[in-house]
Amino acid sequence: MPLTQRQREVLHEMGIPLWVRRGSIRGDTMASVSHTRSEPEGAPQAGAPVPEGLSAVASPSVAELDWDALRTRVAGCVACTELASRRTQTVFGVGDRDADWLFIGEAPGAEEDRRGEPFVGRAGQLLDNMLAALDLARGENVYIANILKCRPPGNRDPRPDEMAACRPFLDRQIALIAPRVVVALGRVAAQALLASEAPLGRLRGGDHTYGGIPLVVTYHPAYLLRSPAEKAKAWNDLLRARKLMLRS
Ligand code: URA
Repeated sequence: MPLTQRQREVLHEMGIPLWVRRGSIRGDTMASVSHTRSEPEGAPQAGAPVPEGLSAVASPSVAELDWDALRTRVAGCVACTELASRRTQTVFGVGDRDADWLFIGEAPGAEEDRRGEPFVGRAGQLLDNMLAALDLARGENVYIANILKCRPPGNRDPRPDEMAACRPFLDRQIALIAPRVVVALGRVAAQALLASEAPLGRLRGGDHTYGGIPLVVTYHPAYLLRSPAEKAKAWNDLLRARKLMLRS
């Protein structure tokens, strides 16, 4: 069946390469689709075998996508088979695309998976309160995202291969937002962003950057719900982040 122009555009946005017959002008009649699971960018891997008589029409890499194309690419990503097959939807991120502040958590939970927005459960309410304490609000000069765009089953920790597969999406969001300060919420986000296995207690309070942007590590709001005595330390972290913001 020939693909319509609209189908071709959607597949292209999803990062699904189209294979067209060499020398064909329209290509529709020979188009078949293939998706490279280990490559969320969707571009055919260098050296990947191209079927006889066909040549690849590569999709743009994730690093080249604009917001709309990035959101579409994320929504169609199946790089992590287990997560993709169980998710209600991907959880892209939310907020001001020109934000100075970027808060990065771990991964969507059940409520986030259901609603398609990060930090909307109890931990999210606490995050909103932390933002309010800084005179900030979700969506106003703040962007919120996670290391993973899909919910790990049973809220297990994200696996290294899942974090690696999802990272280009987050990196593209960071490049598009160009925040002045990044706040890593909790051990998983901090370790992933800093490529470190150090415990949170060692990473907190350190002078870090991510891609040249000052990065502050603090507790995850879910942990603070369980350990309210640590809220004062989290507040100190946020004050340090604000100082960095004023300095940058
Ligand atoms: N915990 C996270 O790390 N992210 C969410 O979006 C929700 C809970």
